[in-house]
Amino acid sequence: MKNLLTILLLGWSLPTLADRLPLPSGTPASYKSECGSCHLPYPPALLAADDWRRIMGKLGDHFGSDATLDSRQQQEIRAFLENAAGRPERLGSAGEPPRISQTQRFIRKHREVPARFWSDPRVKSAANCEACHPGAATGNYSEHDIAFRELRK
Ligand code: HEC
Ligand code: HEC
Repeated sequence: MKNLLTILLLGWSLPTLADRLPLPSGTPASYKSECGSCHLPYPPALLAADDWRRIMGKLGDHFGSDATLDSRQQQEIRAFLENAAGRPERLGSAGEPPRISQTQRFIRKHREVPARFWSDPRVKSAANCEACHPGAATGNYSEHDIAFRELRK
């Protein structure tokens, strides 16, 4: 009986797959240092391979910033992102330039976030994942670990 209880409790407390998005174990160091210098090194599974290809092909004009890399790093990161990308049919269109925050998957997951939060000065932009997900660097997107009490479950 006690064992059964333990098993049940373990099962309940296991996080769902969707709220754990750590960087894959083979992530090149350059991804963290280069693509994580201005913002979070985003989870590659949140964009489709084609979207990553478009982002990596236009680094000189990257959302108004210059994110140019030397060609070795550019190729290394591009190959990594395309390989670890998510399935397009699950994510939906990401727009142009591609944004994680424009995909249907992102919009669906954030449906309950009131509009005023996206422009809150503490958040500034939907791309600023860590403002709301303080554990984002380690891949923790749990609805229980949200920075604002009003949004936490
Ligand atoms: C020089 C700074 C800088 C570097 C380096 C940089 N980025 Fe960005 N990135 C930005 C800015 C600025 C935005 C727009 C943020 C916003 O809208 O608030 C952005 C946005 C993004 C977005 C869209 C986020 C969203 O869903 O709204 C993705 C994806 C992205 N960057 C990927 C990358 C990748 C991959 C690399 C490495 C090759 C990289 N970035 C390197 C500055 C940078
Ligand atoms: C304004 C605050 C805010 C920002 C900014 C934000 N999120 Fe979220 N996010 C939330 C909240 C709140 C939830 C839980 C929503 C719910 O369950 O109703 C959530 C849920 C999620 C989930 C689903 C977790 C699950 O249990 O399925 C993922 C994945 C996620 N966010 C990723 C991101 C990423 C990646 C970014 C940045 C590109 C981001 N979020 C930016 C507030 C935010």
